Amino acid sequence: MFNAKAYSTASSTSPLSSTVIARRDPTENDVQIEILFCGICHSDLHMARNEWSSVMPTVYPCVPGHEIVGRVTKVGSAVTKFKAGDLAGVGCLVDSDGTCAACKEGLEQFCPNQTLTYGFPDRHLGGVTYGGYSESIVVDERFVVSIPANLDLAATAPLLCAGITTYSPMKHWGVTAGKKVGIVGLGGLGHMGVKFAHALGAHTVVFTTSTNKVEDALRLGADEVILSRDANAMQKHAGSFDFILDCVSADHDINAYIQLLKRDGNMTLVGAPEKPLSLVSFGLIVGRRSVSGSPIGGLAETQEMLNFCGEHSISSDVEVIAMQQVNEAYERLLKADVKYRFSIDMASLKAE
Ligand SMILES: NC(=O)c1ccc[n+]([C@@H]2O[C@H](COP(=O)([O-])OP(=O)(O)OC[C@H]3O[C@@H](n4cnc5c(N)ncnc54)[C@H](OP(=O)(O)O)[C@@H]3O)[C@@H](O)[C@H]2O)c1
Ligand SMILES: [Zn+2]
Ligand SMILES: [Zn+2]
Repeated sequence: MFNAKAYSTASSTSPLSSTVIARRDPTENDVQIEILFCGICHSDLHMARNEWSSVMPTVYPCVPGHEIVGRVTKVGSAVTKFKAGDLAGVGCLVDSDGTCAACKEGLEQFCPNQTLTYGFPDRHLGGVTYGGYSESIVVDERFVVSIPANLDLAATAPLLCAGITTYSPMKHWGVTAGKKVGIVGLGGLGHMGVKFAHALGAHTVVFTTSTNKVEDALRLGADEVILSRDANAMQKHAGSFDFILDCVSADHDINAYIQLLKRDGNMTLVGAPEKPLSLVSFGLIVGRRSVSGSPIGGLAETQEMLNFCGEHSISSDVEVIAMQQVNEAYERLLKADVKYRFSIDMASLKAE
């Protein structure tokens, strides 16, 4: 074992603060990574504050962070994909059983025995896993992905969660040229959704509550922007969407979007607000529409998404911050004041 500087929170009401955690020495299949940047996902905030207590109660101390990019410092003897000096990424998963039907299909995000990057039982050290708000991490190479050389590293970190979480459902639901696609909520996930929908050739429409994000939405690739609190503007698009991706982190009315779907249209929820949403059945019955959910993506698809980003020069629009600014960043997330992802420069941890 070795020590690593990190930021953790001790309870649902405590701020994140400096700490030291133990990491395992790499086993033969492990890759040890010096973390250079880690994105701040709204899920980090939900978890730090135990907002998902009914589904996944948070175990404290909690070290969040699952949008990790860094440089490989050491590899185990059986590692074949990486060597010291390589760039590497780690997302929301660090382990799975490798034997279930989902794993065999490369869909580790559905493995019943998966280990999430933080807050899940750590089968090596006991206790729970600690995430990317840290100077280093040790991960089985199966859960480490390669980073395209042409992308800015700070802007690449968010691809590991916000990127794959929006890319995967679009591929699943067939987002292509000729489709009309809506993205609800222009935050970390939403702005990646806009970039992917645009790159896949769809007619891309952003729904936002923030009047000050309209120009940015167009710059990011939207063909149209709708202020979702303007009922008239919403009504004009009734029955016209093939697919809508809901990326909202807080309570909101999903029925207003369902009625914008075409017959057999689908709305996928990736946002995971603390409180249950209410659903009017008739919105689905009329038009045989569906609402579904989608969790991150498997490792093969995560690598596919990163390669796609490399080829199309897609990365996140980031505000790079120091680790010491994380509590302030969380407060800004709650005000939808992020353009469009915070990326923590881990060099700032050296000062701790
Ligand atoms: N399914 C998965 O695998 C997965 C993966 C990662 C994250 N998530 C979840 O996805 C959600 C979004 O994450 P994120 O990191 O993108 O969050 P974020 O950066 O904070 O963005 C959320 C956006 O939602 C909109 N919003 C916020 N409060 C709202 C309200 N009260 N009513 C309507 N719209 C509101 C805002 O967009 P506008 O200003 O444009 O309105 C805001 O920018 C979170 O719940 C997160 O936990 C799920
Ligand atoms: Zn996330
Ligand atoms: Zn499995």
